[in-house]
Amino acid sequence: MGKVHVLDHPLIQHKLTYIRDKQTGTKEFRELVDEVAMLMAFEITRNLPLQEKTIETPVMEAQTKVLAGKKIGLIPILRAGLGMVDGMLKLIPAARVGHVGLYRDPETLQPHEYYIKLPSDIADRELIVIDPMLATGGSANDAIHSLKKRGAKQIRLMCLVAAPEGVEVIQNAHPDVDIFLGALDEKLNDHGYIIPGLGDAGDRLYGTK
Ligand code: URA
Repeated sequence: MGKVHVLDHPLIQHKLTYIRDKQTGTKEFRELVDEVAMLMAFEITRNLPLQEKTIETPVMEAQTKVLAGKKIGLIPILRAGLGMVDGMLKLIPAARVGHVGLYRDPETLQPHEYYIKLPSDIADRELIVIDPMLATGGSANDAIHSLKKRGAKQIRLMCLVAAPEGVEVIQNAHPDVDIFLGALDEKLNDHGYIIPGLGDAGDRLYGTK
């Protein structure tokens, strides 16, 4: 079963409060999401492997550490996932970015990918799927299936806010995928919104309705 990590650093909790607040306008919402994404990237990369490196400081030779060259891929799910990419790239600037766009046919409920563009070497990369709101889990589940079908082997899921219903869907469908959250909320309402949540993340990021 994939582990759920709630990244409840005080700065993340503080900024999430203002992200949730309906008084927060588009510009500030976007900036806060960017900042939280950067803080979450810091936490999610904690276990990156290191290797020894010998350098010369101005004083003496020293054995130090550098990242062992683990290759990362960020995979935002369109469109709200895009709002977290730049914040993450501030800390992981060499990451490659793939994009997945999906919708569910309202009649057949089958997922349809309307856009997918991935780095060619996804099998060798640690992929971080980015979906700010893990509600029913439908899109994240479909996106992860899509990536696995194309050879992805190591996948993590990163979300700002999740509902327990969505977490359960991912844990059942993808027991190999760890989930990193800014907050785990109470539940979904009858319209599929996370409560208390923050409303529609895409609309709030892009000022649409
Ligand atoms: N997607 C959103 O943007 N918000 C929710 O609450 C649920 C799904």
